[in-house]
Amino acid sequence: MTSQDLSDLLARHEPGHSLERDFYTDPDIYQHDLQAIFYRDWLYAIPACQLTKTGSYARLQIGAYNIVLVRGADGEIRAFHNSCRHRGSVICKARDGHVAKLVCPYHQWTYELDGRLIWARDMGPDFDPSKHNLRPVHLRELAGLIYICLADDPPDFDAFADLARPYLEVHDLHRAKVAYSSTIVEKGNWKLVWENNRECYHCAGTHPALCRSFPLDPAVAGVSADGSVPPQLQRHFDKCEAAGAPSRFAMAGFAGQYRLARTPLQENALSYTMDLKPASRRPLGRVSVPDAGTLLQFHYPSTWNHFLPDISLTFRVTPIGPQETEVATTWLVDKDAVEGVDYDIHRLTEVWIATNDEDRQIVEDNQLGINSPAYVPGPYSPVMEDGVIQFVDWYLQTLRRELAPRAVAAE
Ligand code: FES
Ligand SMILES: [Fe+2]
Repeated sequence: MTSQDLSDLLARHEPGHSLERDFYTDPDIYQHDLQAIFYRDWLYAIPACQLTKTGSYARLQIGAYNIVLVRGADGEIRAFHNSCRHRGSVICKARDGHVAKLVCPYHQWTYELDGRLIWARDMGPDFDPSKHNLRPVHLRELAGLIYICLADDPPDFDAFADLARPYLEVHDLHRAKVAYSSTIVEKGNWKLVWENNRECYHCAGTHPALCRSFPLDPAVAGVSADGSVPPQLQRHFDKCEAAGAPSRFAMAGFAGQYRLARTPLQENALSYTMDLKPASRRPLGRVSVPDAGTLLQFHYPSTWNHFLPDISLTFRVTPIGPQETEVATTWLVDKDAVEGVDYDIHRLTEVWIATNDEDRQIVEDNQLGINSPAYVPGPYSPVMEDGVIQFVDWYLQTLRRELAPRAVAAE
């Protein structure tokens, strides 16, 4: 597929409708999505607390890039390309683990946790180890959440960080621990995973457990088609903010790349549990309003999150192939919360484990139907799916922005 083909496809898009099949199936468009979006933008990686001590590491695969994040002896988390500076072997092979040094399995070149090459055997008198340190990846920590960027010259991160930090700080993620994490693979294009996430049109028919606590009313998520905030939601924002928890709806970034809003759960629901009571008796953070609901944050293309008065949940979306996407979920509790005493793993996780699996199934069904030559783009509900319209609009605008300079250069 040429840039012209892609421009034609973009020009053909009918606003308010799902995308044409190629956007969900074509290997070239998939590669283009990686190049134009995932290799360029800031991506959520892990909660900082996942790397519990010096030498703890986590490995991520993002398209062709293999990345390792590691906590150094100075406490700093750094990210490196997981490719040895000798002949390129991967260094860390496990998904996560703990090491004293980063040792390449091939010829044992050995790197300090800060990426410096400290040992390489028989390389001759002219060899300069300082020229063969691991290649760093841009990394920023935002209130206990680690973001990385693969671009040589990353886009601005400060505007997002400055907006999000006050909302996040009251959740004290620096004193969190990972209670549980799950990684699932959905056989669907990454955009179908996002489209599904950005609406609750499907929730009543799909998510019996989630619907006990999560409201179906789209106005509750704070995105009215005309941008206004319903009065009951405004009252909720005011109540939480008066208690010191930033809450009001905020959307910013290029074409609305990120959004924050602390929205109420169903009446009487205090957390995502089957009995609607808190999932942990020892709260993570300082949100003093028990029914503050959930701070919803998304940042395209890699993450949506829920931060509640008792626990926090992070989700990471990573494309694996044109019709395959990884969704990694992490449940965070206060570091002093004791499993079996303050929280029960099954009770903590059952709602979102069920919800993720239900979403996986409908995303896979969606992909299967789109793969049929009979598929034609259909209309989104302006009432229930304006979040999907917003996501698709962000995606298309991002591609158009990326194609625009090339079109000009070609003239
Ligand atoms: S490739 Fe790593 S030591 Fe040779
Ligand atoms: Fe869902």
